[in-house]
Amino acid sequence: MGKKIGLYIHVPFCKKKCLYCDFVSFDNIEESVVAEYFSSLKRELNFYKENYDIEIETIYIGGGTPSAVNPAHIGSLLEFVYSNFEVESSCETTIEANPESLDEEKVKIYRFSNINRLSIGVQSLNDIELKALGRIHTSRRVLEILELIVRYFENFNVDLMIGLPHQNMESFSKTLEAVISFDPPHVSVYSLKIEEGTYFYNEYESLKNCLPSEEEERSMYWLAVQKLNDVGIYHYEISNFAKKNFKCKHNLKYWNHEEYIGIGCAAHSFFEGYRYFNVSNLEKYISRIKSGSFAWEKKQFIDDQEKEKEYIILGLRKIEGFDLLEFERRFNVAFTGKYSAQIEKLKRYGLVEVNSHFRLTKRGIDLANIVWQEFI
Ligand SMILES: C[S@@+](CC[C@H](N)C(=O)[O-])C[C@H]1O[C@@H](n2cnc3c(N)ncnc32)[C@H](O)[C@@H]1O
Ligand code: SF4
Repeated sequence: MGKKIGLYIHVPFCKKKCLYCDFVSFDNIEESVVAEYFSSLKRELNFYKENYDIEIETIYIGGGTPSAVNPAHIGSLLEFVYSNFEVESSCETTIEANPESLDEEKVKIYRFSNINRLSIGVQSLNDIELKALGRIHTSRRVLEILELIVRYFENFNVDLMIGLPHQNMESFSKTLEAVISFDPPHVSVYSLKIEEGTYFYNEYESLKNCLPSEEEERSMYWLAVQKLNDVGIYHYEISNFAKKNFKCKHNLKYWNHEEYIGIGCAAHSFFEGYRYFNVSNLEKYISRIKSGSFAWEKKQFIDDQEKEKEYIILGLRKIEGFDLLEFERRFNVAFTGKYSAQIEKLKRYGLVEVNSHFRLTKRGIDLANIVWQEFI
């Protein structure tokens, strides 16, 4: 039996770049380049097939916007995966989609291609907020698409964002209620990050007057925790909520520090003790693969100390934290002994709790950066 891994596939294409987004994605790309990119993905997969014995437990097709490309590319790529690798029969296979590029035809093709989970980028259901984000769909379009999704997918996720220009408690509460009315099994709530190189970053001076305050943003977050919890969509990771049995298995691999392979430009892998970072430039990615060289431009050995650090920081992202016995099993040392000074300090500030698990308190969730600092 092969080594069990998660497979991430990066699709770096979007109809139009949003004003806040620093994900590696490109708009206005010609179909011939898209087709070449998908051929390159297959070649990159071939490398893993020829060199390793692996069993795929989860597949995540992310972006960018995978729904922006011809669905035949997605279907053919998944067919390639299924015919060349051992894929677990209950494999969770997710695709990310945007409201403006999804339609019934695509949804049917996805279902036919073994995709059993769909993640839709809603962000907000307020048209003023959507416009300020540079989204090219209206809230009405989102509602139509959500109606379509519930007809075809039992397992789906809705991405929402907080801390947006013009957003306030009332508008966010309305967005949440409308989303909850579709009975989603999974919801992600991301705090807007203003990243260097984006339009939001460059225009921050004029933007800052219409951003909610930090306190308001935190109130939106805790409103989401409460409202989602009230309808059985439980908080299980800093930004993620799910009904029982609908936690995202693929993303749990990251937070549990398990192995995964990422293919495509800018994809990362954590495999056989190393982290690999694929080249971000689209043309470079295609030409590297064409010439038979590796897609990664950086490879980093994760030594035991680094593994411990990553396990702590990623594990603390889960609301239940990480299991102290599992820590000892992995690293042959008791967490509470080795890190007693940090634990005592963080406990004094009310940021962490220790029982069978080590976890953030509510205050610790709001001040997570301070906690990370202790372990970096
Ligand atoms: C890679 S995007 C894919 C989804 C899809 N392309 C879309 O935008 O609808 C994944 C999610 O990351 C979140 N996101 C993107 N940029 C962000 C930012 N700067 N701050 C916070 N969340 C962000 C959005 O919620 C988005 O839906
Ligand atoms: S948020 Fe989604 S649609 Fe917008 S640019 Fe980023 S990946 Fe593309």
